[in-house]
Amino acid sequence: MKFFVDTGEIDDIKDLAATGLLDGVTTNPSLIAKSGRNFLELIAEICGVVDGPVSAEVAATDYATMIKEAEKLAAIADNVAVKVPLTEDGLKVCKAMSDNGTMVNVTLCFSAGQAILAAKAGATFISPFVGRLDDICQNGLELIADICQIYSMYPEFDTEVLVASVRNPTHIIESAKMGADVVTCPPSVIKQLYKHPLTDKGLAAFVDDWKKTGQSIL
Ligand code: G3P
Repeated sequence: MKFFVDTGEIDDIKDLAATGLLDGVTTNPSLIAKSGRNFLELIAEICGVVDGPVSAEVAATDYATMIKEAEKLAAIADNVAVKVPLTEDGLKVCKAMSDNGTMVNVTLCFSAGQAILAAKAGATFISPFVGRLDDICQNGLELIADICQIYSMYPEFDTEVLVASVRNPTHIIESAKMGADVVTCPPSVIKQLYKHPLTDKGLAAFVDDWKKTGQSIL
């Protein structure tokens, strides 16, 4: 399973890249607004830090403008994945850009039917939003299960399932059990994965007992 971080904060990206566990980055217009950074400069900077796919989302909603924005974003670096919304025009942009060899992340997916359309449009990634479905009392993880099952039955679909709107470690673990290809998480959720109270307790005991030996490894 690949780990992407969902943020526009360059310091968080550098911090996670240093762990060696980071496979890519996703951004969206809300995260860019929160960062206060110039979008094009920030994407170029992220692409210099991370080798894997860096999702950069178009801002327009009509085909003619979206395709121009997509071309401009794709020209920033080879590892840019252009992000488009799951609309009729968005999927037309997806088809055109993926036919030209650009990675495309189709975002705002809330149904298995939408995921089928994205795969047929040649999406590199489909981004179903788990947390936002949970927020309206629907089961976001059931959507991941449905998409993984459907995609597995059609070898011609090479779209990767990128689980988005991840809010907690359970979303990650359950998605992994279903065979989802990628999770994109806020930095705080990735950090939560390290934590277990028995790890902290056990380590404290080992450190204390080691001191009692009076030895040093170095
Ligand atoms: O970037 C897309 C997605 O991960 C957004 O998550 O928490 O705003 O629903 P959230």
